[in-house]
Amino acid sequence: MPGLREELDVDLCVVNGENAADGLGITPRLAEVILASGADVITLGNHTFRRPEIAGYLDESERVIRPANLSKHVSGRGLTIAESRTGTPVAVINLLGQLFLAPPHGPWEVVDELVEEARRSTPVILVDFHGEATSEKVAMASYLDGKVTAVLGTHTHIQTNDARVSAGGTAAITDAGMTGPHDSVIGVEAELAIRRMRTGLPVRFETAQGGVRIEGALVECNPSTGKASSIEAVRVSVS
Ligand SMILES: [Fe+2]
Repeated sequence: MPGLREELDVDLCVVNGENAADGLGITPRLAEVILASGADVITLGNHTFRRPEIAGYLDESERVIRPANLSKHVSGRGLTIAESRTGTPVAVINLLGQLFLAPPHGPWEVVDELVEEARRSTPVILVDFHGEATSEKVAMASYLDGKVTAVLGTHTHIQTNDARVSAGGTAAITDAGMTGPHDSVIGVEAELAIRRMRTGLPVRFETAQGGVRIEGALVECNPSTGKASSIEAVRVSVS
Protein backbone atom coordinates (compact mmCIF):
# COMPACT_ATOMS: atom_id res chain seq x y z
CA MET A 1 0.00 0.00 0.00
CA PRO A 2 2.75 2.55 0.71
CA GLY A 3 4.08 2.12 -2.85
CA LEU A 4 0.61 2.43 -4.39
CA ARG A 5 -0.14 5.54 -2.32
CA GLU A 6 2.99 7.14 -3.70
CA GLU A 7 2.38 6.03 -7.27
CA LEU A 8 -1.19 7.37 -7.30
CA ASP A 9 -0.27 10.44 -5.20
CA VAL A 10 -2.97 9.67 -2.65
CA ASP A 11 -3.74 12.25 0.06
CA LEU A 12 -6.15 10.10 2.03
CA CYS A 13 -6.81 6.38 1.90
CA VAL A 14 -9.98 4.63 3.11
CA VAL A 15 -10.09 0.84 3.27
CA ASN A 16 -13.20 -1.29 3.71
CA GLY A 17 -11.84 -3.92 6.06
CA GLU A 18 -14.84 -6.03 6.99
CA ASN A 19 -13.47 -9.21 5.41
CA ALA A 20 -9.90 -8.87 6.68
CA ALA A 21 -10.10 -11.72 9.21
CA ASP A 22 -10.16 -14.75 6.88
CA GLY A 23 -13.13 -13.35 5.01
CA LEU A 24 -15.35 -12.46 7.97
CA GLY A 25 -14.92 -9.42 10.18
CA ILE A 26 -11.77 -7.79 11.47
CA THR A 27 -9.69 -8.03 14.63
CA PRO A 28 -7.97 -5.14 16.44
CA ARG A 29 -4.60 -6.56 15.38
CA LEU A 30 -5.58 -6.66 11.70
CA ALA A 31 -7.01 -3.15 11.92
CA GLU A 32 -3.68 -1.94 13.29
CA VAL A 33 -1.80 -3.71 10.46
CA ILE A 34 -4.00 -2.07 7.81
CA LEU A 35 -3.65 1.38 9.42
CA ALA A 36 0.11 0.95 9.76
CA SER A 37 0.40 0.04 6.09
CA GLY A 38 -1.09 3.35 4.99
CA ALA A 39 -4.86 3.46 5.50
CA ASP A 40 -6.20 6.59 7.20
CA VAL A 41 -9.67 5.21 7.92
CA ILE A 42 -11.15 1.71 7.91
CA THR A 43 -14.85 1.21 7.21
CA LEU A 44 -16.80 -1.98 7.91
CA GLY A 45 -20.11 -3.57 6.93
CA ASN A 46 -22.51 -6.43 7.59
CA HIS A 47 -19.73 -8.58 9.12
CA THR A 48 -18.59 -5.88 11.58
CA PHE A 49 -19.05 -7.93 14.76
CA ARG A 50 -18.11 -11.40 13.49
CA ARG A 51 -15.02 -11.12 15.69
CA PRO A 52 -16.34 -10.06 19.09
CA GLU A 53 -12.99 -8.63 20.20
CA ILE A 54 -13.48 -5.72 17.78
CA ALA A 55 -16.30 -4.25 19.91
CA GLY A 56 -14.14 -2.61 22.59
CA TYR A 57 -11.68 -1.45 19.95
CA LEU A 58 -14.44 0.32 17.99
CA ASP A 59 -15.39 2.31 21.09
CA GLU A 60 -11.83 3.61 21.39
CA SER A 61 -10.91 4.09 17.73
CA GLU A 62 -11.44 7.30 15.81
CA ARG A 63 -10.12 5.66 12.64
CA VAL A 64 -12.15 2.48 12.39
CA ILE A 65 -15.87 3.03 11.85
CA ARG A 66 -18.85 0.74 11.35
CA PRO A 67 -22.13 1.37 9.50
CA ALA A 68 -24.02 4.23 11.15
CA ASN A 69 -27.38 2.48 10.78
CA LEU A 70 -26.66 -0.44 13.11
CA SER A 71 -28.37 -0.61 16.50
CA LYS A 72 -27.60 2.29 18.83
CA HIS A 73 -26.84 -0.36 21.45
CA VAL A 74 -23.64 -1.58 19.73
CA SER A 75 -20.10 -0.20 19.89
CA GLY A 76 -18.50 2.26 17.56
CA ARG A 77 -19.52 5.13 15.33
CA GLY A 78 -20.50 5.59 11.71
CA LEU A 79 -18.86 8.94 11.00
CA THR A 80 -15.35 10.18 11.54
CA ILE A 81 -13.28 13.16 10.46
CA ALA A 82 -9.76 12.35 9.28
CA GLU A 83 -7.04 14.69 8.06
CA SER A 84 -5.54 14.26 4.61
CA ARG A 85 -1.80 14.42 3.93
CA THR A 86 -2.28 18.06 2.88
CA GLY A 87 -4.19 18.95 6.06
CA THR A 88 -7.72 18.92 4.59
CA PRO A 89 -10.35 17.50 6.95
CA VAL A 90 -12.23 14.66 5.28
CA ALA A 91 -15.43 13.21 6.69
CA VAL A 92 -15.99 9.50 6.17
CA ILE A 93 -19.48 8.04 6.59
CA ASN A 94 -20.22 4.31 6.55
CA LEU A 95 -23.76 3.07 5.75
CA LEU A 96 -25.29 -0.36 5.25
CA GLY A 97 -27.79 -0.94 2.47
CA GLN A 98 -31.23 -2.21 3.44
CA LEU A 99 -31.88 -4.50 0.46
CA PHE A 100 -30.96 -8.12 1.40
CA LEU A 101 -28.87 -6.99 4.39
CA ALA A 102 -31.70 -5.90 6.72
CA PRO A 103 -29.93 -3.41 8.99
CA PRO A 104 -31.76 -2.30 12.16
CA HIS A 105 -32.35 1.15 10.60
CA GLY A 106 -32.72 2.06 6.94
CA PRO A 107 -29.80 4.13 5.60
CA TRP A 108 -32.29 6.67 4.25
CA GLU A 109 -33.45 7.43 7.77
CA VAL A 110 -30.01 8.51 8.99
CA VAL A 111 -28.15 9.81 5.94
CA ASP A 112 -29.40 13.43 5.99
CA GLU A 113 -28.42 13.95 9.60
CA LEU A 114 -24.99 12.40 9.06
CA VAL A 115 -24.23 14.54 6.01
CA GLU A 116 -25.35 17.64 7.92
CA GLU A 117 -23.09 16.72 10.83
CA ALA A 118 -20.15 16.10 8.47
CA ARG A 119 -20.69 19.40 6.66
CA ARG A 120 -20.29 21.28 9.92
CA SER A 121 -16.63 20.15 9.87
CA THR A 122 -15.75 19.94 6.17
CA PRO A 123 -17.15 20.03 2.62
CA VAL A 124 -15.07 16.97 1.69
CA ILE A 125 -17.25 13.97 2.50
CA LEU A 126 -16.82 10.36 1.44
CA VAL A 127 -19.65 7.85 1.89
CA ASP A 128 -18.89 4.13 1.87
CA PHE A 129 -22.26 2.62 1.00
CA HIS A 130 -21.94 -1.06 1.85
CA GLY A 131 -24.75 -2.72 -0.05
CA GLU A 132 -25.83 -5.71 -2.07
CA ALA A 133 -28.19 -4.18 -4.62
CA THR A 134 -26.94 -2.04 -7.49
CA SER A 135 -30.29 -0.19 -7.58
CA GLU A 136 -30.01 0.99 -3.99
CA LYS A 137 -26.39 2.05 -4.43
CA VAL A 138 -27.17 4.03 -7.59
CA ALA A 139 -30.18 5.61 -5.88
CA MET A 140 -28.11 6.71 -2.86
CA ALA A 141 -25.36 8.14 -5.09
CA SER A 142 -27.99 10.04 -7.04
CA TYR A 143 -29.71 11.29 -3.87
CA LEU A 144 -26.39 12.57 -2.49
CA ASP A 145 -25.30 14.25 -5.74
CA GLY A 146 -24.09 17.73 -4.87
CA LYS A 147 -24.18 17.01 -1.14
CA VAL A 148 -21.05 14.89 -0.75
CA THR A 149 -17.74 14.38 -2.58
CA ALA A 150 -18.04 10.67 -3.26
CA VAL A 151 -20.35 7.70 -2.79
CA LEU A 152 -18.30 4.53 -3.11
CA GLY A 153 -20.06 1.18 -3.03
CA THR A 154 -18.59 -1.85 -1.28
CA HIS A 155 -19.69 -5.39 -0.29
CA THR A 156 -20.20 -7.32 -3.54
CA HIS A 157 -16.43 -7.80 -4.15
CA ILE A 158 -17.03 -7.24 -7.88
CA GLN A 159 -15.76 -3.95 -9.27
CA THR A 160 -18.33 -2.22 -11.44
CA ASN A 161 -17.66 -0.34 -14.66
CA ASP A 162 -19.65 2.80 -13.80
CA ALA A 163 -17.27 5.26 -12.15
CA ARG A 164 -18.66 8.72 -12.90
CA VAL A 165 -18.88 12.28 -11.59
CA SER A 166 -22.51 13.41 -11.56
CA ALA A 167 -23.78 16.86 -12.46
CA GLY A 168 -23.66 18.13 -8.88
CA GLY A 169 -20.00 17.16 -8.45
CA THR A 170 -20.34 13.84 -6.65
CA ALA A 171 -18.10 10.98 -7.71
CA ALA A 172 -19.58 7.50 -7.53
CA ILE A 173 -18.93 3.86 -8.33
CA THR A 174 -21.45 1.13 -7.55
CA ASP A 175 -18.77 -1.19 -6.22
CA ALA A 176 -15.08 -0.49 -5.73
CA GLY A 177 -14.28 -4.21 -5.93
CA MET A 178 -12.21 -6.56 -3.81
CA THR A 179 -8.63 -6.52 -2.64
CA GLY A 180 -7.88 -10.20 -2.39
CA PRO A 181 -7.63 -13.43 -4.37
CA HIS A 182 -9.61 -13.17 -7.61
CA ASP A 183 -9.03 -16.80 -8.69
CA SER A 184 -12.01 -17.57 -6.48
CA VAL A 185 -15.74 -17.04 -5.94
CA ILE A 186 -15.59 -13.58 -4.32
CA GLY A 187 -12.57 -14.60 -2.25
CA VAL A 188 -13.59 -18.18 -1.39
CA GLU A 189 -11.95 -21.29 -2.90
CA ALA A 190 -14.11 -21.76 -6.01
CA GLU A 191 -14.46 -25.52 -5.62
CA LEU A 192 -15.91 -25.12 -2.10
CA ALA A 193 -18.36 -22.37 -3.10
CA ILE A 194 -19.53 -24.40 -6.11
CA ARG A 195 -19.94 -27.54 -4.01
CA ARG A 196 -22.18 -25.69 -1.55
CA MET A 197 -24.26 -24.23 -4.38
CA ARG A 198 -24.57 -27.52 -6.29
CA THR A 199 -25.46 -29.69 -3.32
CA GLY A 200 -27.08 -27.30 -0.84
CA LEU A 201 -25.01 -29.02 1.85
CA PRO A 202 -23.01 -27.10 4.44
CA VAL A 203 -19.41 -26.68 3.27
CA ARG A 204 -16.67 -25.01 5.30
CA PHE A 205 -15.31 -22.12 3.24
CA GLU A 206 -11.63 -21.34 2.91
CA THR A 207 -10.03 -18.21 1.57
CA ALA A 208 -8.54 -18.68 -1.91
CA GLN A 209 -4.93 -17.80 -2.67
CA GLY A 210 -4.43 -16.98 -6.35
CA GLY A 211 -4.83 -13.92 -8.52
CA VAL A 212 -4.46 -11.32 -5.78
CA ARG A 213 -5.45 -7.84 -6.84
CA ILE A 214 -5.83 -4.51 -5.11
CA GLU A 215 -9.07 -2.93 -6.26
CA GLY A 216 -10.57 0.42 -5.34
CA ALA A 217 -11.32 3.86 -6.67
CA LEU A 218 -9.30 7.06 -6.88
CA VAL A 219 -11.21 10.32 -6.48
CA GLU A 220 -9.88 13.81 -7.11
CA CYS A 221 -11.66 16.79 -5.60
CA ASN A 222 -11.45 20.46 -4.77
CA PRO A 223 -10.66 20.72 -1.04
CA SER A 224 -12.43 24.08 -0.65
CA THR A 225 -15.74 23.09 -2.23
CA GLY A 226 -15.70 19.31 -1.77
CA LYS A 227 -16.72 18.90 -5.42
CA ALA A 228 -15.19 15.91 -7.21
CA SER A 229 -13.47 16.46 -10.54
CA SER A 230 -12.65 12.87 -11.43
CA ILE A 231 -12.93 9.26 -10.36
CA GLU A 232 -11.26 6.21 -11.74
CA ALA A 233 -11.46 2.56 -10.82
CA VAL A 234 -8.14 1.17 -9.57
CA ARG A 235 -7.17 -2.42 -10.33
CA VAL A 236 -3.62 -3.60 -9.66
CA SER A 237 -2.36 -7.19 -9.81
CA VAL A 238 0.01 -8.14 -7.03
CA SER A 239 0.45 -11.86 -7.72
FE1 LIG B 1 -20.19 -7.07 3.28
